[in-house]
Amino acid sequence: MADITVTIGKHTFQNPVFAASGTFGYGLENPDLVDISAFGAIVTKSITRQPREGNPPPRIVETPSGMINSIGLSNIGVDKYVSDMAPKYADIGCPVIMNIAGSSEDEYCEIVEITESVNSNIIGYEVNISCPNVKHGGIEFGVNAELTESLTSKIRKRTGKLVIMKLSPNVTDIRSIAKAAEAGGADALSAINTVYGMSINPHTKKSEIYTTYGGLSGPAIKPVGLACVHKVSLAVDVPVIGIGGITSGKDAVEYILAGASAIQVGTANYRDPATGISILDDLKRYLAEQNIATVAEMIGMVETYES
Ligand code: SIN
Repeated sequence: MADITVTIGKHTFQNPVFAASGTFGYGLENPDLVDISAFGAIVTKSITRQPREGNPPPRIVETPSGMINSIGLSNIGVDKYVSDMAPKYADIGCPVIMNIAGSSEDEYCEIVEITESVNSNIIGYEVNISCPNVKHGGIEFGVNAELTESLTSKIRKRTGKLVIMKLSPNVTDIRSIAKAAEAGGADALSAINTVYGMSINPHTKKSEIYTTYGGLSGPAIKPVGLACVHKVSLAVDVPVIGIGGITSGKDAVEYILAGASAIQVGTANYRDPATGISILDDLKRYLAEQNIATVAEMIGMVETYES
């Protein structure tokens, strides 16, 4: 059987299929829906310094081949997270990556400091510098290379755990942001977060999202994600985790060929929380059919017309 383990930073994961932030809550809510121990890792929803209600409704709408969300980082805040959630990770059988978000460098750093002060099975941070749905912070960092490098290096100094910067596609040149994150000491990069989108109800003539714009995800953005992963993986030496419209083993294979070391399943979980498991089965079948011995050797294997 092919070797499907993947290494990111100092961690080797049992497989490259991760659950994306925002789709499995804090990682503890869905034990009856799917066996999360089958995943390579699970990424929590974004945790902020203070608890947040999030944006008013409507904050989710279905669109052709996707959905738009503008949740506004609704979460319980880091204090309650480390006291009530983190201790339970000892039993879930799956590495947990904590997604964090903030409106200032100090906020991100405090979240990391508080989390580092307790014992937990959290193996790393996915740093959300790409949320399109909040007025302060979020994507402000991810569209600016200087801010990205500065924030990454401040987080890097505060933890030995994995530091994964989550990049936005809503930028002129994602490569410059990726290089800045790498220069700041990131172990890996996640690409991509959602793409700005809008939806209008022609009958009511109203915007279908309270904040007017939101983040588009799902199959509609797969080609955008693939292009970003390919560009980023050629620009940096650290591993890239591919995200964006992955619903099948074929999608996962395309991302890995484009340069992803691992992939995250997001929107597809709302239709079927076990999508990640079927992707894993498809991936194993593909490796056997193609006679490929390891996932690692597939990474970035795509042949392009221009070199
Ligand atoms: C949200 O909470 O609005 C979504 C988070 C994100 O897109 O990063």
